[in-house]
Order: sequence, then C-alpha cells, then structure tokens
Amino acid sequence: MSFDSEFNKDNRIENILVDEKAYNALIHLLGKKTGLNFEYYNKSFIEKRIKSRMIRVPCKTLHQYYDYISSNGAEVKKFIEGFTVNYTFFFRDFDVFETIQDLFIQGLNVSRKDIKSNIKPAPTKLAKFRTKSNAVKNFHKNRFLSEKPAKYYVDIFVFLNQLSYYKKMKRAKSADNCINIWSCPCATGEEPYSLAMILDNLETQVPRFPKYRIVASDIAHEAIEKAKIGIYTDDSMKEISDYYENKYFSKQKTHFGHNNVIKEKIKKKNRISGRGYYQGS
Ligand SMILES: C[S@@+](CC[C@H](N)C(=O)[O-])C[C@H]1O[C@@H](n2cnc3c(N)ncnc32)[C@H](O)[C@@H]1O
Repeated sequence: MSFDSEFNKDNRIENILVDEKAYNALIHLLGKKTGLNFEYYNKSFIEKRIKSRMIRVPCKTLHQYYDYISSNGAEVKKFIEGFTVNYTFFFRDFDVFETIQDLFIQGLNVSRKDIKSNIKPAPTKLAKFRTKSNAVKNFHKNRFLSEKPAKYYVDIFVFLNQLSYYKKMKRAKSADNCINIWSCPCATGEEPYSLAMILDNLETQVPRFPKYRIVASDIAHEAIEKAKIGIYTDDSMKEISDYYENKYFSKQKTHFGHNNVIKEKIKKKNRISGRGYYQGS
C-alpha cells in the first residue's frame, strides 16, 4: 500500500494533500469499521470531513490518519458525527414536493384544478425564516416553476419513464401494484411525513388511488426515535403551508409554548427504521 508522503507543515486544511490511493485505502478502512459505503457520498464532502478531523487530531498525512483510525475506535465515532447532522423541516425545498405531487397528479390522469392542496407556504412565513436575498431568489425560482411550460412535463416524463413508481402508478388501476417510496436519510421524520401528507391528501380525493408504502431510515438512532414520536417544535414547521398544518397537526401545550403533534393517521403511513452504525469502542 502506498500513501502520500508530503507533510502538512503548518497543520492547515489547505496544506493536506489527497493522494488517490491513500484516500481509497482510508475510505475502505472506514467502510469496514462503520458498515457504510463512502463511495456513495459526495467525494468533496468526505474529503472535507477527513481533513477537518486530521487537523484536530492532529495528523499531517492521510497515512498517519489511517494509522490513527486503525487503532482508535473513538475517532471513528467522531468522524461519523459529521454525517449525522439532522437539519431538516417539513416540506424542505417545497418546490420539490410540489413536483412530486404533480407527478402523481399527471400519472393518475386527474386535473390539478380538481385537487385541493397548497404546499407553498404563505409569503409571510417564508420572509420570516429566510434571509431576504434567499426569499427573492426563491420567489423568482418558484414563479418560473409555477408557469410550468409544456416542455417541463415532456422532460419530466422522459425521465419518469425510467422510474419504477411511475410505471407502477400507470398500471395501478389494472394491477395490484404497490408504490414503494424510501426516504433514505429521513433524519427526524419531516421528509417522509411530508410525503405521507401529500399522498394522504391525494388519496382522499382521487378514486382508486394506488397502494403505496413509505419506508424511512437513518443511521442516527436519536433522530429515528424522534421521528417515531412525531412531535415537533415550530422550527420544523417553518415552511409548512397553513393547509397542511391545519389538516395534519394538533397543538400540544408545553411550559414554553406549544408543540406540534402529527396525526396518528400520517404516522401509521411510515415504516421508520434505523440501522446501527459503529459506536466506537
Ligand atoms: C441534513 S439531514 C437531511 C434530512 C432530510 N432528507 C431532508 O432533506 O430534510 C441528513 C441525514 O442523513 C443521514 N445520513 C447520513 N448518511 C446516511 C446513510 N448512509 N444512510 C442513512 N442516513 C444517512 C444523517 O444521519 C442525517 O440525519
């Protein structure tokens, strides 16, 4: 095995050289220790994580860090902590959820105007939680999306024909198909519950709605446990529309104000499971 031999003299991130072989050996080792496949992650994200740990430990070369990790279980746990940042909220990137809803509406051959749904949060809500420049950027982006030129659907459906759930949706009325949706990194559950709310809302309005199953998972156990409980602070509600908030949540009084409790019906639509990751030794 060969590793980079250059030394990071000042112990600064920009001085760390990433040699391909050393990098591959390191992610292979980390993979063995954690059970995660780091090839599926964005490489620059992994590199940043490795470098940020290296300057803290400190190790000056990937070779040194490899040796350090080999004999130090606690470091593996620290390395992984950077992957379990659970930042999320309901309908995060709401335009993506609108697109998913559109796909269902189109796939099921119903007309949008016959469906009651409003995913987009009120502008006052957006303005409150986003910086001004982001609010302006998103306003323009969403205006573009709401115009939805004919080509938008053509492009999307060319892509969709590759997707199994769309194929199933089209056959759903004739066959006993189940659409399977997997929210892989679900964090505290806001993403799979947002999907469940959209589908439940459609299901109650579209006759012979296809069967579906939502599976949610995450490597962070604490996040999974919160997801199973389904009680949220206002921070998770910062971009949910009044339509979905009123339809699927109730308020629970607390000493500090209130919590938002998701309806049991929506909780039941998700199968939430965690899988262990290396906890250190
Ligand atoms: C920033 S949250 C994103 C949550 C949600 N998908 C969203 O977009 O709002 C990232 C989540 O990915 C999880 N994660 C990271 N690697 C994972 C993996 N290999 N398998 C499952 N979950 C993973 C983390 O624990 C964290 O909860």
